[in-house]
Amino acid sequence: MSKAEELATRLRQAEERLERARGMETLGRLSGGIAHEFNNLLTGILGYASLLRTLLPEGGDGHEAAVMIERSARRASELTRRLLEYSRRESANPRPVEIHKLLGEAIGILSRSVGKGVEIRTELRAPSDLVMGDPEALLQALLNLGINAGEAMPGGGLLTFATGAFASDGSVTFEDVPVPEGAYVSVSVTDTGCGIPESIRDQVFAAFFTTKAPGEGAGLGLPLVRSCIRGHGGFLHLESREGSGTTFRILLPAAPASGEPGGTRSS
Ligand SMILES: Nc1ncnc2c1ncn2[C@@H]1O[C@H](COP(=O)(O)OP(=O)(O)O)[C@@H](O)[C@H]1O
Ligand SMILES: [Mg+2]
Repeated sequence: MSKAEELATRLRQAEERLERARGMETLGRLSGGIAHEFNNLLTGILGYASLLRTLLPEGGDGHEAAVMIERSARRASELTRRLLEYSRRESANPRPVEIHKLLGEAIGILSRSVGKGVEIRTELRAPSDLVMGDPEALLQALLNLGINAGEAMPGGGLLTFATGAFASDGSVTFEDVPVPEGAYVSVSVTDTGCGIPESIRDQVFAAFFTTKAPGEGAGLGLPLVRSCIRGHGGFLHLESREGSGTTFRILLPAAPASGEPGGTRSS
């Protein structure tokens, strides 16, 4: 294996780990609710175990058992506390993000990880590319779309990132959802790959849905892209023709033209 190939493989593995980590984050958020319930139950168990311990004669079997219950409950409580902390770590406060700069970063990473025959192009037409949000999450979303596009073109092809301005007067709908009036930055990711058959178009956004071989796809890319974009007050639209390629189009509310812009590095 050449140095470049090895690097690409390592990068790819790192990206897969990242994808899985973000899946864990979603699960973490879900389990946060359960952890809360659980903690309330544990408080009861702990309380009664302590009571039992004081009621039962020291040195007897019952007393020892109560001590064990108390100890286990305390450990479980500690665990759920950590779970809760984890799930509360919601995405940081929104920051100004320059989409063109972010695309540059995404392409830098992708150009090393997509197949050799894949050419990456940009058509940056948005006069203002500023949005408010979480640059890490948005970068991850762009990477997920780019990785999927690369994987859809095993024999090579063209991957195009295009941006533009988009204005909604409130009558526009995206995936049947009305787009609130306002200015948006549009980002589309287009590949010339295998396309997405009509029959699975409704399923690709479902968590754990994948058409890839076991170990190759976790089926968490698109659900996370969608939740990220929605979390930003944005919209995601899919257009595909089987055999000729796919376009994922993102609309993100444009930021008012002020504030300190930043990529993922600045904070
Ligand atoms: N650009 C694309 N071209 C063709 N199929 C795609 C593309 N993007 C996503 N898909 C389909 O959607 C499925 C789900 O994608 P994703 O959620 O990223 O999970 P994964 O990539 O792990 O399979 C993929 O397995 C594939 O079938
Ligand atoms: Mg994927």
